[in-house]
Amino acid sequence: MILKIDDHQIETEASGSILEAARSAGIYIPTLCHHPSLEPYGSCRLCTVEIEKNGRKRFVTACNYPVEEGLIVKTRSPEVLDIRKMIAELLLARCSGEKRLQDLAREYGIFEPRFKLDEEKCTLCGLCCRVCEELVGVSAINFYNRGTERDVGTPYGELSEDCIGCGACALVCPTNAISEQRNIFPVTSKDYKEIEKGFLNGEPDDDLGLFSELFAAETNIEGQDGGIVTALLAKGIEMGLLDAAVVVQNREIYGAKAAVVDDIEGILEAKGTKYMRVPVMPRLIDALKKGKRRIAVVGTPCQVRVIRKLQQRGYFKDEFADAEIILLGLFCFESFDYRSLRTRSKELFGIDLDEANKIQIAKGKYIVAIGGKNYSCSVRELEHDVREGCRFCGDLVSRLADISIGSIGSPNGYSTVIVRSDRGKKLLDGVQFTRKEIDREEIVKLARLKRRNADKNFLKIGDGLAG
Ligand code: SF4
Ligand code: SF4
Ligand code: FES
Repeated sequence: MILKIDDHQIETEASGSILEAARSAGIYIPTLCHHPSLEPYGSCRLCTVEIEKNGRKRFVTACNYPVEEGLIVKTRSPEVLDIRKMIAELLLARCSGEKRLQDLAREYGIFEPRFKLDEEKCTLCGLCCRVCEELVGVSAINFYNRGTERDVGTPYGELSEDCIGCGACALVCPTNAISEQRNIFPVTSKDYKEIEKGFLNGEPDDDLGLFSELFAAETNIEGQDGGIVTALLAKGIEMGLLDAAVVVQNREIYGAKAAVVDDIEGILEAKGTKYMRVPVMPRLIDALKKGKRRIAVVGTPCQVRVIRKLQQRGYFKDEFADAEIILLGLFCFESFDYRSLRTRSKELFGIDLDEANKIQIAKGKYIVAIGGKNYSCSVRELEHDVREGCRFCGDLVSRLADISIGSIGSPNGYSTVIVRSDRGKKLLDGVQFTRKEIDREEIVKLARLKRRNADKNFLKIGDGLAG
């Protein structure tokens, strides 16, 4: 297909937008709400160009207008520049403190907007919502309200159960708006450093995060591997270090649910790893509202990340002044959607996952024990059952937890333990266990693999920003 952009004859594929055709020919058109890995949205209108078709001229947005045979496009006609100048001025009037918009306005000779609007940070470009929905796949945020009240946030402005703190929204946001939203928790690499500094202590380690101790432990509690999570919680309650714990319990249908427990019985009921991400945030808030203050939360790396971000922002201190939350982070390479896993297990083994006595993922195998019999397959066969969002999580070892616990690197029957804070150390001190050496390289190998996979996905976002 041949079209003309600013006096250049351009041969392009029959599909694609004017913006793509122009960029492939090295012609600059400014954009704000466009990202090449996301569906075109057409909200900011900054990419406005003039087109001529069948002798008729009009203005369209280049990012979502498809190329057509014989189209004549002008990207810098005086009228086009006037339209962009007006848009740049309005954006600056709305977000006058934002560097990106100041730079943009300057390109059009505007230093001071003529209008005065209420100072905002959000341009309403929609990039954050689209990246969360289309790439990360969790749809934790969206637009709400209309007109001048329009804003971005979680449903009903509540703490999100879906946000995994991946930071993709903060990466695409052209301003600082998303990082300042109260109910969204992007955790950027800068946040990781700040959280480590504020909450953890030990030696920094590129692969395993900051820690003071790393070892394998076996307790006399029968549970998953060395039973250390159960032992820590039970001891914490017994010694009065904890008022309650938020744990994940098996339930009859749909696998597992989070619950607040405040006695040994409840803790023992939650023994054994569930390879699912179950919302823990609502239970944590329930526990706080019920007056519990020293609470342990057992969670996956993404849940730990989100709660830490809230702690970093002072959320718990503001709402529940004397709350002390201790985070027991589980190792997690990926988690599974229970319904999907249940169907897959039925297909593969003819079993009902609700009846499983134990579900385990070890050394690349998915193993289900039911009635004294084991069923297993390679974890690779479950790739379609992995939860959305996991591809954007590069943390295997719960780097921001007070204590991280897993099985990778430990001998059979032992738990891998990484102590990362004084609070974690204090909880561990009361627990009886046998200690063994760990195979550090085994953990490092998987930690790097997970990080590499996530980095590749983030690269797709980062590369788009350069365009
Ligand atoms: S941090 Fe990730 S999951 Fe949370 S809102 Fe942002 S993009 Fe979505
Ligand atoms: S928060 Fe940022 S990315 Fe989201 S709509 Fe506002 S400016 Fe765009
Ligand atoms: S970049 Fe095309 S409308 Fe925003």
